[in-house]
Amino acid sequence: MFQKLKQRWKVNGINLVLIIATFAIGGSLCGRVSSWIITYLPVETKWIEILLFIIFCTILWPLSVLLVSFPLGQFAFFKKYIGKVFKRFGGKQQNTNATINIAIFASGAGSNAQQIINYFASSSNIKISLIVCNKPGAGVLSIADKAGIPTLLIEKERFFKGDNYLPELQNFHIDYVVLAGFLWKIPPALINVFPKRIINIHPALLPNYGGKGMFGHHVHEAVINNQEKESGITIHYVDELYDHGAIIFQAKCSISQNDTADTLTQKIHVLEHQHYPKVIAGIIEK
Ligand code: GAR
Repeated sequence: MFQKLKQRWKVNGINLVLIIATFAIGGSLCGRVSSWIITYLPVETKWIEILLFIIFCTILWPLSVLLVSFPLGQFAFFKKYIGKVFKRFGGKQQNTNATINIAIFASGAGSNAQQIINYFASSSNIKISLIVCNKPGAGVLSIADKAGIPTLLIEKERFFKGDNYLPELQNFHIDYVVLAGFLWKIPPALINVFPKRIINIHPALLPNYGGKGMFGHHVHEAVINNQEKESGITIHYVDELYDHGAIIFQAKCSISQNDTADTLTQKIHVLEHQHYPKVIAGIIEK
């Protein structure tokens, strides 16, 4: 049940505990204040007292919960949650065409990020809402700036041992995480919050040439050194191991005798740019 709540609300374990605490404290606070107000009202009949108690609780619940959420650091969550409750009770129709927000995680030049941004620029319901990067000065940051997409520069300690930057991902209502040359492993807490919604591209035909230290040029050098006749790209879901999750798509290219790691990099980039945005769109639309 807790696992389901974490996924539904896109929060980690610590935030889930704080949210449940906010519900409990906020609920009892509004109950107490409502009874206290009623003691000052000249009401004689029991059923009117109960009715008033229910009315006061309904009015005071959002306020008490918001009040309690503030010191517990859950204000952003409850603001959104209460907004949704109001919409539901106000009878507003659910928006079935809601925007799907993607965060691209990248560490390098960002040529894949650029292609993905271009591809979805004209989409009416899929938006690249955030670029997450772990390297100050990386090319992908200027690509984001030019495209007017917010960026988030992350640091190791908080990403792996802190809140995994979940509050920021929540603020941007992120639905999918797309890795495009992101070189840090994704912490299990994030994988739990985005089940089957974190996608990676690897510049080789997995399960070969994957794993720790196998990224970018290192992959192509290993492929060339082993005199392979072909290489390619793999798009896969991310799990807790490096380059290991279920494969979604692969495409191949041939390697000639004259190829070097540099020329292979170019061939692979052509394949990546051609397929990655379309495969992402396919996954989301499915
Ligand atoms: C891409 O080739 C991608 O497949 C690779 O990094 C490159 C990033 O290029 N990813 C990995 O090696 C992950 N293991 P880009 O910054 O130009 O998009």
